[in-house]
Amino acid sequence: MTQGKVDALLGIVFGDEGKGKVVDVFTPRYDVVARFAGGPNAGHTIIFNGKKFVLRSIPSGIFDEGKINIIGNGCVIAPDLFMQEAQELEAAGYDLRSRLHISTRAHLILPTHRVLDRAYEAAKGKNAVGTTGKGIGPTYSEKASRTGLRVGDIIHDFPAKYEALKARHEQILRDLHYTDYDIQDEEKRWLEGIEYMRLFPLTDTGIEINRLLAEGKNILAEGAQGTMLDIDHGTYPFVSSSNTTTGGVCTGLGIGPNKIGEVYGIFKAYSTRVGAGPFPVELFDETGDRLREIGHEYGAVTGRNRRCGWIDLVALRYAIMINGVTQLIMMKSDVLDGFPVIRACVAYERDGIRTTDMPFDTEGWNAVYRDLPGWNEDLTTMTSEDQFPKTFRDYIHYLETELQTPITIISVGPDRAQTIVRAS
Ligand code: IMP
Repeated sequence: MTQGKVDALLGIVFGDEGKGKVVDVFTPRYDVVARFAGGPNAGHTIIFNGKKFVLRSIPSGIFDEGKINIIGNGCVIAPDLFMQEAQELEAAGYDLRSRLHISTRAHLILPTHRVLDRAYEAAKGKNAVGTTGKGIGPTYSEKASRTGLRVGDIIHDFPAKYEALKARHEQILRDLHYTDYDIQDEEKRWLEGIEYMRLFPLTDTGIEINRLLAEGKNILAEGAQGTMLDIDHGTYPFVSSSNTTTGGVCTGLGIGPNKIGEVYGIFKAYSTRVGAGPFPVELFDETGDRLREIGHEYGAVTGRNRRCGWIDLVALRYAIMINGVTQLIMMKSDVLDGFPVIRACVAYERDGIRTTDMPFDTEGWNAVYRDLPGWNEDLTTMTSEDQFPKTFRDYIHYLETELQTPITIISVGPDRAQTIVRAS
């Protein structure tokens, strides 16, 4: 039997690229959808049968009866938030219990991890990362320092392990003089969440995934966040705490690199970033406000304003390289309708030095732009590529040439139907 393969669908800039919207195009092609990194810091907005869901920890294949969904070992999971998310889906009539498998190796986010997240941010003052406050950094730190609790720990003798780790966190918080918190209600829901999680198959998903591949099943590895938020390759220290890139697919699911097939890199026709950190293409003027307004650029998890700017080819080229992207997906092209000139950042400049390679430290670099003509037509009405205005076709061609990678899917509006799949 032919072995199955794992294709990756990855945000390749700062997250929020709109993966949720293209999932419909993707999931029918796969038997399994698996999350390999991150946790409730993600917010994938999905409209299914006319109803809106925001998935944080649960993979997007959950709406389809025939699919297995996996939360892999590279993820972190908050039992209370997981329970809330899962119960909303169950209330809407989706049966999760048999088709959502959770890795025993995934790490648990404790209520005190969330307090620590807030305490560390407060201690950083003006250097705060602007995290989502979901306890992501403290949980992954604890994983690396080998003191964390994993999903498999809930199976035996859990209360004692939990109490010991909570006491350790409380001591750290006292040392930080961060004592103004109350987790009583949160902890109650969290412990209910632990009980609820026991209703799901808690398994070694690495073994399961490799077995499914051997049976010829195809798997979609669904990314969270984006390449520039990767702990190793992003704009450190203004990053999340996991590997959001293709390498993270291998470690976060337990598969060899020879199992990876296509790598789909998803990006927007312009740039956005939530939270602090360098962002050379950021616009502080009316154009930035207009992109935010037309693109509805407000965070799905935190509701914060997203910072907006023109497309950044330095970041995209770098992300394509790091991930081995084989096909690109461009979202929200219609947001650029009506701009007389569209700009693309082709290099960064600082103190008279110009670079087209992503620098070690992106602080203080200015964007160097190339101006391209815009279009006046309304892309949202278009249903096939041959209806695109010439200037938009030229924009696509320019990007494909600069990025040396085909753009095979183009989104021209918020509706599911406004997704144009091009011949690859
Ligand atoms: P954390 O992942 O909550 O620790 O946040 C670290 C940084 O990553 C902050 O700048 C967040 O705004 C950003 N971030 C985390 N998750 C997402 C996401 O899903 N989309 C966009 N930005 C994110």
